[in-house]
Amino acid sequence: KSIHTLAQRYYSTNVNTVGVIGGGQMGAGIAQVLAQVAKKNVILVDLNKNVIEKSLIGINGFLQKSVSKGVITEEDKENTLKRISFSDDLNSLKNVDFVVEAIVENTEIKCNLFKDLAKICKPGTILASNTSSISITQIASHTNEPQNVIGMHFMNPVPIMKLVEVIPGLQTSEETQKTTLKLAVEMNKTTTFSKDMPGFIANRLLMPYINEAVQALHEGLGTKEDIDTTMKLGCNMPMGPLTLADFIGLDTCYSIMNILHTQLGDKYKPSPLLKRYVEAGRLGKKVKHGFYTY
Ligand code: NAI
Repeated sequence: KSIHTLAQRYYSTNVNTVGVIGGGQMGAGIAQVLAQVAKKNVILVDLNKNVIEKSLIGINGFLQKSVSKGVITEEDKENTLKRISFSDDLNSLKNVDFVVEAIVENTEIKCNLFKDLAKICKPGTILASNTSSISITQIASHTNEPQNVIGMHFMNPVPIMKLVEVIPGLQTSEETQKTTLKLAVEMNKTTTFSKDMPGFIANRLLMPYINEAVQALHEGLGTKEDIDTTMKLGCNMPMGPLTLADFIGLDTCYSIMNILHTQLGDKYKPSPLLKRYVEAGRLGKKVKHGFYTY
């Protein structure tokens, strides 16, 4: 509690420019809120030029809707867009103060990226990962400043969901934690702390629930509509578990379940049907086809 208070009352960040890596559904949302709410300059990096174009269209569309609803002005929209630049070159992050990584949920790819970032970014840059389940301590061990590495786990969709889970690794410094909390506050988010354990708090609880729903579908316990409607109307969930899985991305759900399974035991074994959907490329809403079509 004391560190929250300190971060909010007495500590101000020197963060002016933030690099966001991965322009998918999470990265685009994080970049938007950093520019729109926290008023930071943002450099959004993705390897794939098509993704960059798609994320610009997505951010623009989201802001336009807010203008139409009267939540922000046309000028706010233009100023937000002006603060975001796009790049397909990691070297463009050499002068940023803070990095939020939001690339694919794959341990080897993330660790390699952090190895590269440690070489590119100036000393003292905080390197935050939006990973849903991969160990922050493990990611940090691939850099030469593990004290500056931290988990900053946003929720989807980032402009709407209030929470950021903050995950210090074994060697994360108190200074890094304070700056991260302060940045989250500047983005108008509420924070919780989680230990660096598989899935942290959110996905340790959420993923087994989603996985059980997929397994129930696999066993024919009900149709996808039966399962979703039962949880929505019967248990007051805002959306059914299979719809939620489509929103998160079935590849991401499967990767998280695999990490829980490998590190915490057989209780967390991914449903074979989840694996089949991933193999079929039916990854959910982001590709317009998962359990449902969009
Ligand atoms: P996504 O599949 O929409 O986007 C991932 C992006 O990373 C793609 O655009 C891809 O081109 C890019 N990418 C892959 N390797 C790269 C590299 N080496 N350098 C630069 N860009 C690279 O995935 P999504 O849903 O945005 O998830 C990203 C991260 O956020 C994952 O770690 C995931 O676990 C986490 N997360 C996802 C949530 C969700 O609901 N989808 C919620 C919270 C966290």
